[in-house]
Amino acid sequence: MILAIETSCDETSAAIVARNGSSIIALSSVTASSLKLHARSGGIIPETASRKQLEYIIPIIRKSINKAGSDISRIEAIALTVGPGLIGSLLVGVETAKTLSYAWNKPIIPVNHLIGHIYANFISEDPKNADIQFPFVGLIVSGGHTDLLLFRSHENYKWLGGTRDDAAGEAFDKIGRMLGFAYPAGPRIEKEAKRGNPKAFNFPRPLIGSGNYEFSFSGLKTAVLREVKIIKQLNNETISNICASVQQAIIDVLLAKTLGAAKKYNVKSILLGGGVAANQKLRDQLSLDTKYLIPNTAIFAPDKNLCTDNAAMIGSAAFYNFKPTQWQKINANPELYF
Ligand code: KG4
Ligand code: ZN
Repeated sequence: MILAIETSCDETSAAIVARNGSSIIALSSVTASSLKLHARSGGIIPETASRKQLEYIIPIIRKSINKAGSDISRIEAIALTVGPGLIGSLLVGVETAKTLSYAWNKPIIPVNHLIGHIYANFISEDPKNADIQFPFVGLIVSGGHTDLLLFRSHENYKWLGGTRDDAAGEAFDKIGRMLGFAYPAGPRIEKEAKRGNPKAFNFPRPLIGSGNYEFSFSGLKTAVLREVKIIKQLNNETISNICASVQQAIIDVLLAKTLGAAKKYNVKSILLGGGVAANQKLRDQLSLDTKYLIPNTAIFAPDKNLCTDNAAMIGSAAFYNFKPTQWQKINANPELYF
């Protein structure tokens, strides 16, 4: 059993995970969030996020252990997000984990938060479900990151490319803000898009034909802003049409690059991860396009509640990359990359 801790941004999360055949099972996963406090500001306020982390961390860890019916003696190690993220938020998790590591005499397994998003796919109640085969490409689409990776094994992965400017989730959030939606706007855009026409506006698909795995979403944001300024009075129908067209533009770019990489590297599976992976249209279109273009490729997306930040995915990543480390060697690294 591993106790996992995640505090990189506005979620304070702890989980107890264990091996379940070839996959990982979350015996408990408890999350508190300060998200509502940021809704009106259009983005996370780091100071507020870290203060809330401090308030939540001990009760959340205690609850995760109790809920799993576990006790400290059965915990083998502490899996911990060490970066990337907000320094104040990260430090709360890191210092708590180091203290517990010293007090309980358990090692820490440091985990890269972004890799954690991919490993949310290995969590399953049904051991057969997570039959993920190498090589696979992983697309991480969250509020802060858009990255495409090639995994040849758990230990051997390579970054293929990422965004030059805004992340996919950030594009959803910033465009949503123009339309008057609260933060985070991704789920609301998805909802509005259901009533809209994805072809109503021909928004740009930046870098779609660039022949590499780089992304850029800031031009899309500017194009939407221009349109919103021209229209001036936005009625419900126009808002739905903008949402559907924006969502389609983002999905088209994400999938063109992901499927391109999957084909080039002849992978067996494609894995999604991160908050934007909760988008049903993205999942459905990935499924359709894969069946059509590379039919023997299996696709995986985590349960929707495991797409956004959670500790279970950090525990899962730690299981497959078990690197026990003494607490003295653990540091928060807000800039951690691949
Ligand atoms: O992974 P996550 O919880 O936090 C980060 O590590 O960034 O991702 C949050 C992001 C936000 O930008 C949010 O708008 C987006 O994920 N998101 C969605 C959906 N649900 C969350 N974007 C599009 N469609 C959704 N259904
Ligand atoms: Zn995240």
